[in-house]
Amino acid sequence: MTKLKTTFFCQNCGTQSAQWMGKCKSCGEWNTIVEEVISKPKSGIISWDKKKYNNINKAQIISDISLKSKARIDTSDNELNRVLGGGIVGGSLILLGGEPGIGKSTLLLQVALKIQGEKALYVTGEESDQQIRMRADRLNLTNSSCQILTEVNIQNIFQQIQEIQPSLLVIDSVQTLQTNNIDSAPGTISQIKECTTELINYAKATGTPVILIGHINKDGHIAGPKILEHMVDVVLQFEGERNHVYRILRAYKNRHGSTSELGIYEMVTNGLREVSNPSEILLSQKDEDMSGIAVSATMEGVRPLMIETQALVSSAVYGTPQRSATGFDLRRLSMLLAVLEKRCGFRLGTKDVFLNITGGIKVEDPAIDLGIVCAILSSNDDIAIKDNDCFAAEVGLSGEIRPVNRCEQRIQEAEKLGFERIFISKYNKIDRQDFSLDIIKVKKIEEVFKILFTS
Ligand code: TYD
Ligand code: MG
Repeated sequence: MTKLKTTFFCQNCGTQSAQWMGKCKSCGEWNTIVEEVISKPKSGIISWDKKKYNNINKAQIISDISLKSKARIDTSDNELNRVLGGGIVGGSLILLGGEPGIGKSTLLLQVALKIQGEKALYVTGEESDQQIRMRADRLNLTNSSCQILTEVNIQNIFQQIQEIQPSLLVIDSVQTLQTNNIDSAPGTISQIKECTTELINYAKATGTPVILIGHINKDGHIAGPKILEHMVDVVLQFEGERNHVYRILRAYKNRHGSTSELGIYEMVTNGLREVSNPSEILLSQKDEDMSGIAVSATMEGVRPLMIETQALVSSAVYGTPQRSATGFDLRRLSMLLAVLEKRCGFRLGTKDVFLNITGGIKVEDPAIDLGIVCAILSSNDDIAIKDNDCFAAEVGLSGEIRPVNRCEQRIQEAEKLGFERIFISKYNKIDRQDFSLDIIKVKKIEEVFKILFTS
């Protein structure tokens, strides 16, 4: 009997070690080291054999490398195209991660069914073919050039690929894949690594793009070895609050485009709908003036976005005042409150402060500082800010109003949506002078306070 060959892998970071340990030496996590069986490839197994399709690569001068006539595939989904930098690059590997139930399978099935002029193959190890059919019916999509395969074994998948010769391959999900070359269970580090390597060989040898769905673990990283993210060309993250309808698609790594682009979708009863004008949906429609609401012009990547911040300031009932923030960094909120207290003399130390960014999105752009400060002051004094005022500036530690990047673009977006005044920093240089809205340049929070609440 042959001896089984085993090694130990950390299930958190993928580090390999020769023996079991309680704590991973590399990432420091406890109880993550698991023994996995690995064994040599058995003979007679079909794998994606590069030599069969391509001879051994030779070095060549860069100008001699021929570009394929169609370098990028148009996915018929404008948001996805933009995030990818203009479509899917031939032969690339794209990894899509996200929380369970966020809509990964829906998004990619939609892409596979909507794509024009390409032969898509959607491989799933998570759902049965009937379930996929039901989902497609729900999406109201059908496409005779898209094929569905329910299979987890990578060798069987390659057999089907050889028959079908797809021009786009979708795998849902990489954690369910299994190769005969390794004996460990699906979803383990060694299986994920091996299957991805085989898919990369296939993609590079044939020029077929492959999109992989990946599960994420409890701290938001894609489950499996960290090396997975190094191996692929593009890492996309699909995120959003589960209870909100909006979903955001972001690129964390993109070898073929920028990582600052962003796609916004709305989950409706028949699938994901592209949101082409996000500012309009993020602003709530209100009939009467309410205190504690301010609109900021923020940037998501290179796209300007008007978002609404809501603040509620009330006297603390218990000894320690509470501070809570949804969609905004709590430490930054504490900092802004400290600035208001120390530099501007507003007494907020005994007040509860609650902050909410509407639409369920998370904002890291410091340009919403001024909007947040104004929402807090508005709620504190119970005076509403006018509907047609908006803000775009950072607040510094001494209470000064600091300039922000891409200010003109922000002003333009505010103008487009019919705002009449925008508050920006005095130090922001603006070349264009013909904006139809009033640009109010301020240096200190007190100035803004005077204009908004005392006049
Ligand atoms: P799904 O794509 O299965 O998520 P994932 O693959 O990321 O786990 O999405 C499932 C959720 O999407 C489910 O909670 C229901 C919702 N949904 C809709 O609201 N409308 C639809 O048309 C579809 C197909 C799903
Ligand atoms: Mg799924």
